[in-house]
Amino acid sequence: MILHCIQARFGYLLVGLIFIAVIGLCEGGLTSSYVRSNGLSSDMPLDSDVFRVPPGYNAPQQVHITQGDHEGRGVIVSWITPNESGSNSVLYWAANNQIKKTAIGIVVKYKYYNYTSGYIHHCTIENLEYDTKYFYEIGNGDVTRQFWFVTPPRPGPDVPYTFGLIGDLGQTYDSNRTLTHYELNPMKGQTILFVGDLSYADSYPFHDNTRWDTWGRFVERNAAYQPWIWSAGNHEIDFVPEIGETKPFKPYTHRFFVPYKSSKSTSPLWYSIKRASAYIIVVSSYSAFGMYTPQYKWFTNELSKVNRTETPWLIVIMHCPMYSSYVHHYMEGETMRVMYEPWLVKYKVDVVFAGHVHAYERSERISNIAYDVVNGLCTPINDDSAPVYITIGDGGNQEGLVKEMTEPQPRYSAYREASFGHGIFDIKNRTHAYFGWHRNQDGFAVEGDSLWFHNRYWKSMGETSTAVL
Ligand SMILES: [Fe+2]
Repeated sequence: MILHCIQARFGYLLVGLIFIAVIGLCEGGLTSSYVRSNGLSSDMPLDSDVFRVPPGYNAPQQVHITQGDHEGRGVIVSWITPNESGSNSVLYWAANNQIKKTAIGIVVKYKYYNYTSGYIHHCTIENLEYDTKYFYEIGNGDVTRQFWFVTPPRPGPDVPYTFGLIGDLGQTYDSNRTLTHYELNPMKGQTILFVGDLSYADSYPFHDNTRWDTWGRFVERNAAYQPWIWSAGNHEIDFVPEIGETKPFKPYTHRFFVPYKSSKSTSPLWYSIKRASAYIIVVSSYSAFGMYTPQYKWFTNELSKVNRTETPWLIVIMHCPMYSSYVHHYMEGETMRVMYEPWLVKYKVDVVFAGHVHAYERSERISNIAYDVVNGLCTPINDDSAPVYITIGDGGNQEGLVKEMTEPQPRYSAYREASFGHGIFDIKNRTHAYFGWHRNQDGFAVEGDSLWFHNRYWKSMGETSTAVL
């Protein structure tokens, strides 16, 4: 009888301990149990077919496009000719109109330690028709290459549009899987919002810039046909005073032009665009952003200018996340969070996409703006005006995934998983958008995580029921 009683009590104790343990570990959202098997990824070798140089003397290579103005009627076409400058013009025409026009660009070059770049061409085409397919041609003679793009619809509140999200891509076999997975996703992303860390060329001795060239050839298959909206990460800084390289972002800013002047920015590292129903603000985690700096002044002014009745979806992209519960890079975004979070909440930003942490994570709508160092209010709280923070630095670079997470999972973290993948932000109308995260190991239509977004501005105005298309 006594033994029986002890057994029963021990049973209760065990159940209690398990219960406490479960409660303790489940403080926040969901930590996926999915664990990838392989470790570090290696870069694809230089002779990989994805890095193939197009045939012909001085053939244009590394072709990529991005938005070329603030409204969406401009496109910047960039490419590199390896041997000589060659033609600097872009011939273009609408698919429904055979009248061909020519735009003239500029050529830049740079040296980096013992590397000399090819001839880097940037040509802005302006005053295109909205929502129209265009063909374009670059190069001359027998090395002419033809591509196409589709301009976005005129900005407006109910214009559906689909963005892809990729970050920290690199040039490994996993990078190739991520890009392929995005290309074959039936959601059909129309423009990529790239959250920084492109080539990882800086992982090579003396930041061997030939790995910038291979990366340019790798992404051409997508970036020549749809705009990639660029933001710079720490792997774009390329600051190595020991070898005389003292100008930060030199390769990045020579290779990737962005329309920063059209949003009154003074630096290509921070700028904004409108695209369909979205207003996208790019900020630089690795440029001065404190009070009184050019970026701070521009950013705070920029938020106040957004007309949510025209572009209801307010999206901010940056490299270093403000909220991340992974151990790697923990709290690196804290200084920017302190400076910028009150503005994100005040202006009801819908979503902040970041990279840097090589994994996926989605937050709840939370803010931590009440904390002032002395009041002790240092725990993020639910905040209906706050954005969702999504870390999508899982493109697949050679540094591999980060798997170590802070425990217990904080309450602000809704879902986290260390797998490679990409995101899709699919805007349906002024009130609703759908986000899906796609891990590389799944079928192309499968979502590892997803969330319906209810637009912050229109929700605050009481509009909750626009029919989802
Ligand atoms: Fe990074």
